[in-house]
Amino acid sequence: MCGIVGYIGSRRVIPVLLQGLKSLEYRGYDSAGVAWPEKGELKRVRAKGKLSILEDALEEFRATATTVGIGHTRWATHGEPTRENAHPHTDCSGSIVVVHNGIIENYASLKRELEAQGHRFSSDTDTEVLAHLVEKYLDGDLPEAVRRALQDAEGSFALAVLWAREPDMLVAARKQSPLVLGVGEGEAFIASDIPALLPFTRDVIFLEDDEMAILDRSAIHLMKITDGTRVNRESERVTWDAAMAEKAGYKHFMLKEIYEQPQAILNTFRGRIEPETGEISLPEAGLTPETAKKLTRIVLLACGTSWHAGLTAKYWIESWARIPVEVELASEFRYRDLLIDDSILTIPISQSGETADTLAGLRLAKELGSRIIAICNVLGSTITREAHGTVYTHAGPEIGVASTKAFTSQLTALYILALLLSSFRETLEHETIKQKIAGLIKIPETILYHIETWHDTSKKLASRFYEATDFLYLGRHLNFPIALEGALKLKEISYIHAEGYAAGEMKHGPIALIDRTLPVVATIPRDHVYEKMISNVEEVKSRRGIIIALGEEGDENLSQLTENLIELPRLPDPDLNPFIYTIPLQLIAYEIALARGCDVDQPRNLAKSVTVE
Ligand code: G6P
Repeated sequence: MCGIVGYIGSRRVIPVLLQGLKSLEYRGYDSAGVAWPEKGELKRVRAKGKLSILEDALEEFRATATTVGIGHTRWATHGEPTRENAHPHTDCSGSIVVVHNGIIENYASLKRELEAQGHRFSSDTDTEVLAHLVEKYLDGDLPEAVRRALQDAEGSFALAVLWAREPDMLVAARKQSPLVLGVGEGEAFIASDIPALLPFTRDVIFLEDDEMAILDRSAIHLMKITDGTRVNRESERVTWDAAMAEKAGYKHFMLKEIYEQPQAILNTFRGRIEPETGEISLPEAGLTPETAKKLTRIVLLACGTSWHAGLTAKYWIESWARIPVEVELASEFRYRDLLIDDSILTIPISQSGETADTLAGLRLAKELGSRIIAICNVLGSTITREAHGTVYTHAGPEIGVASTKAFTSQLTALYILALLLSSFRETLEHETIKQKIAGLIKIPETILYHIETWHDTSKKLASRFYEATDFLYLGRHLNFPIALEGALKLKEISYIHAEGYAAGEMKHGPIALIDRTLPVVATIPRDHVYEKMISNVEEVKSRRGIIIALGEEGDENLSQLTENLIELPRLPDPDLNPFIYTIPLQLIAYEIALARGCDVDQPRNLAKSVTVE
């Protein structure tokens, strides 16, 4: 949803801005631009398309001695992805320049007023009104002009502003869009998220909603946008390092992140479960046996892949902790007449912690008295700051737009939370909890042992089926959400139409689609719905559909059904199956996208962090 960067210090600015933009490119990649002051004049270079095009256009400016500037990578909301609509945007004088992530909702009326006052616009974007508003209010004091301009603007923003006539200062502000400030020795940074800062500093300040910052080479001053009162906040040190956000020899971030899943799962459960004693420690959730017993319902709230993690966790929580669970798409939840009160626990699940719909749903549930425990990956993100407690997933930075390791680490966090609830509510025997913990602890090792084989088989399957135009994914019980997730992965990165379906529902519609050209991916572990799945797959076979089966090693029923087989180990407890069945599905999607020549890490039209509605 657009990435913004800003720098003021002693380094040459162009390489710093480009490096920051590279790590933010996953947020949007339809156009990009940077601006910097030079001898009292503003220089601005923008380009339509990927960042590499901007990089080429900037070649001749790389050595500029300027040490201050701002940059942007765009995911279009208002105005097509053209060079004219690429940020940064300037005022009429061409000396004030703005980069923005978010949406200025009243931009049309502001634009009309500004045009009536003589301002001339050169783009179709909502952002440009901000540059003209700052111009309107500028009377020598840039921060004050920005503050006044933002009081006129409705909507959401994270922004950075530079004035060529005052090149020793940057102004940043935020409302409902993420923004982090980096603190260095004699330098300061602005970025949409932490990985963009990691090559330079690990000391960060999270700007809160309705706050702005004035950055110069010696200090960062924070204040409220509403009345300009000063805000004091110390910087925090983040534990991620820059190497964690690099590709480390893998061809794509997505592949690296698929392979990182054993580590991500381990990092998520490390220190939280104790196999010897069956102890579960999640103090950050702030739950007690008393509060857990009083709960009447749990609402899991999320979007995209995180929603699939919620759908999976519903089976665990209901079966183990005996509480009704609703899994809500945040974009639907937020516009419903909600039945939420203080007896309900709401669990927003979000990798980024910034998804606009999930955040809005969280706020509504909180207002209605619900306790909020977030499952989140990004330290200090908005959702974590607004929740009563956060269980971090500790998956490390996820850069590939299609979520992989964030998903399995969300499953891990939810699995542990479900066990904690069962323990507090005394709905599972202690011995059973111990067994479930012991089972989870073995998962990283199991994945490590098998992932290369799954990958090899996925490559073979991809070479057979990459030209298919549609795919159907089937699963039952815990593997139904995994089928949904498999289908989502494929459509996100390969642009093949794919549907995930509950296998038992196939006869109510999708069965009409089956013919010799349709690959049907079926997840068939030997669990309590195994026989039912086999019957469903027989139904596909008898209609000449192509079957790709994921099932247990040595299962002869499956080898008779199809030669397109991915074998997985039998786990001690079928409740653990989602952790492993997910991974070959990610690898199949990856290999098919690769075979089709798609841009795996930056699929068209998508963005990693969706901070608009
Ligand atoms: C976008 C991403 C998905 C992600 C979803 C929810 O659509 O492309 O990968 O699952 O947002 O994001 P969140 O950060 O809230 O988990």
